[in-house]
This record gives sequence, C-alpha cells and structure tokens, in this order.
Amino acid sequence: MKKTILDLMSRKGGQPLSMLTCYDYMTAKALEEADIDMILVGDSLGNVVLGYENTLAVTVDDMIHHGAAVCRGAKNTFVVVDMPFMSYQPSVRDAVVNAGRIMKETGCQAVKMEGGIEYCDRIKAITDAGIPVVAHIGMTPQSVNAMGGFKVQGKNDAQYERILRDAKAVTEAGAFAITLECIPEKLATQITKEVSALTIGIGAGNNCDAQVLVWQDMAGYDNGFTPKFVNKYADVHTTIVNAFKQYKQDVADRTFPNDKQTFH
Ligand code: KIV
Repeated sequence: MKKTILDLMSRKGGQPLSMLTCYDYMTAKALEEADIDMILVGDSLGNVVLGYENTLAVTVDDMIHHGAAVCRGAKNTFVVVDMPFMSYQPSVRDAVVNAGRIMKETGCQAVKMEGGIEYCDRIKAITDAGIPVVAHIGMTPQSVNAMGGFKVQGKNDAQYERILRDAKAVTEAGAFAITLECIPEKLATQITKEVSALTIGIGAGNNCDAQVLVWQDMAGYDNGFTPKFVNKYADVHTTIVNAFKQYKQDVADRTFPNDKQTFH
C-alpha cells in the first residue's frame, strides 16, 4: 500500500522515516523492494548522474524525464521531485506552473524547493494549488555561489536564529516537511521539536523525523570524496569495476560467451 502524506505525518516524533535519492527506473524498483519510506528525485541528478559540477544547470525537463522513470519503477512509494534552479525563483507564477508540470508529467506525490522566508509566497501558492511541498533549508546547494561553497550552515548565532526562523516560516506557509541540510545537530533537534512539519535530515544529526542520503554515496558507487555525514553500506564501485574487468578478460580470452550463452 502506497504511503500517503498522512501516513508520513503520523510518524512525526516517532520512529524515523528513511528516504534515499533516485534518478532511474531500476533503482526505483530496488528501493521499493527494500521498503524505503520515501524517494527523492533530487536535483543532485546534475552532479551524480549528468556529470555537472553542481546542480545549477539542471532543468525542469531533466527533472520530469528522471522523475517519471522513478515513478514508473516505484509505483507504491511516496516520491518527491526537486524543483531545479530558476524554476521557482523568478516568480510565484513560475513556481506554481512548474510545480504543476512536475506533478502532472511525473506522477510524483510532492515537490521540494530550496529556500526559507524569502520563498514562503511560492510555498503557500503551490500548497494552495493542492501540491504538497517539502522545503529545504540550511545548506542549499542551488545557492552555492552565494554561500561561497558547500559549507555547514547555522554555526554562528545569527545563522542559527535565521535558520530557526526559516523553519517556522516555511511550516507556516504550508510545507509538510523540511529538509535540513548540513546544520548542527542542536539546531536540527530544536527545529524538530518546535515545528509541526516533518524534518528530513542530511548532515543534521540523529534527532530528525527522517533521514535522507544520495543513494550512490551510501552504496559506495563512487570511489571519490565521501561527505562526513555519509555511512557507506556497500562498495558498489569495486563490485562493478571488478565485473567490468572480468568481462573484458573473458571476451579477450574467448571464455565469454560459452556454450550455455550461445544459440545452436
Ligand atoms: O538533490 C538532492 O539530492 C537533495 C538532497 C541532498 C537532500 O536535495
């Protein structure tokens, strides 16, 4: 049975929910088989799948293309699709039109957008249109240039207070959940206690209502940099590189294909 927004909200303050990113049909099927509570088609698509330096080049069409594939693979899982850079920043109208396109053309259950108080008018308008919104505050990758890099946010008093105010404002505007990225655990704990929205942590400590990670990070798909907040549950990189090497060797040796793999 597909979880609804009400099922998810009923877990506020209870057993934490699991969420992982996903960008394609087959991985979506695997996440559903593992009974992961929520899937995020993140605009991390840009760095993780499309090879961009950051998320800024990702388009609404990219998100729809990948979001629809994920929804086809995970028919019974709650899927959230990211609104990419400049799909909601220019105006409230752009925000509603693009959120509507993403919902209609992917079949997802909610959209996610970065930003706090300054985007509450967009959150309210999208929510009023019947589209559930996940807000995203703290470290917001679409503002990488303004932040001067991917840095933990909320370490000084002014930032701490601003992020707390953002959390309250986006909840008031209608967000049913808030992603808290790279903030101190103390701040994430306070937000989780003081707002009715579900908090979804990534680099925000252990007291959030849910946790999210990029699936390639937690499965060790890449052998490059791993952020401090990631736990590697597998070494997919080594497994697939070894498989590719073995295949190359077998082709060179003519041990692949063998008789079983051949039509007579
Ligand atoms: O795009 C993404 O993957 C995200 C997560 C890092 C929360 O927004």
